[in-house]
Amino acid sequence: MSVIEQPLADYDVEQVRRDFPILSTTVRGKRLAFLDTAASSQRPACVIEAIVHYETHLHANVHRGVYELSQKATDAFEAARERVRVFLNARSTREVVFTRGTTESINLVAQSWGRSLQPGDEILISWMEHHANIVPWQMACERSGAVLRVIPIDRRGELDLAAFHRLLSPKTRLVAITQVSNSLGTIVPIAEIIAAARRNGSLVLVDGAQAVAHQRIDVQALDCDFYAFSSHKLYGPTGMGVLWARESVLAGMPPWQGGGDMIRTVSFEKTTYNELPYRFEAGTPNISGAVGLAAAIDYLESLDIDKVHAHEQSLLRYTTEALRAIPGLQIIGEAADKAGVISFTLEQVHPHDLGTILDSEGVAVRAGHHCAMPVMDFFGVPATARASFGCYTNREDVDQLIGALHRALEVFG
Ligand code: ALA
Repeated sequence: MSVIEQPLADYDVEQVRRDFPILSTTVRGKRLAFLDTAASSQRPACVIEAIVHYETHLHANVHRGVYELSQKATDAFEAARERVRVFLNARSTREVVFTRGTTESINLVAQSWGRSLQPGDEILISWMEHHANIVPWQMACERSGAVLRVIPIDRRGELDLAAFHRLLSPKTRLVAITQVSNSLGTIVPIAEIIAAARRNGSLVLVDGAQAVAHQRIDVQALDCDFYAFSSHKLYGPTGMGVLWARESVLAGMPPWQGGGDMIRTVSFEKTTYNELPYRFEAGTPNISGAVGLAAAIDYLESLDIDKVHAHEQSLLRYTTEALRAIPGLQIIGEAADKAGVISFTLEQVHPHDLGTILDSEGVAVRAGHHCAMPVMDFFGVPATARASFGCYTNREDVDQLIGALHRALEVFG
């Protein structure tokens, strides 16, 4: 074994796995090798218990009742907001808007801030964006006459930074960029992008969906204007997410959805709006989702995100080496700086067939276009299979994947 193949001594992945009840279940009579964390992570028992505790002892609507239970629910909900603030190192909870997920966070910006777009303004995105960071901007451009520009990528799946600097112009109002590509695993050098965009006077939105559970995030150090992420990729519940926005920017944005909680006063003649961040949170929110997200953040931080990152990087090297030894297998996305996401194709086997065979061996991977059709077009493939890691992924999972790929070769070879 080479040095990089040694498991990390100071990270006890078997202990971590015991925190996730689902990992001890079987699928199709086989041990579950869950390798689809990029789509949705599993939840540790402490997150499930926090939600059950909330539902059992604390639930009522928030910000509305004077009775004790409503106040307790409000306290739990607002404590979750404070937990997110600390996690992101945001200046104020006024900057933390709860949403349904990354997709809704980006749509909020596109539909609210996007109303300020004028014909000829430009939005700059990259070729490796998830559809959630493409389509809302296309819609905003259609409404306003603004123009969508796309930063190209190369065959390794890296961003063409020279092209980015060329595309940045006085017309660029916003750069909307992923921090980690969900289809290629590329870690994008967002520090350089944000610095250049700020010098240019452009705002920056970072899609942090694939980054937030895998590396430390500090929105003040990043110096972006918007940061979007989902709870369910961070060991928390689905239907819950966050839009962090710089207060000076958020304060100038019009509300996007009308209804309860986002107002201060309503009459038929005129409505006045609530303060930040509630102005952007119409309707009863996902209260237990916020509680679960806060518990998930507590959990992740208890593991030490830097150690999780190092563990996933070690697995990435181990898996890449093992996959390269499989005949006919092509890794799609070989950037120098990658997260624990590996897309691949296997000669003569459609990724969907491959996904089905892997499933029969207990291996859960995602097969498809990964909501990144432009990336598939760029590499000339209809789809890929994708293995992705989390804090609980171990070498046995990877070895099971490799064994199942050999089985697929036998079936289709
Ligand atoms: N965005 C999720 C993924 O990459 C669903 O799989």
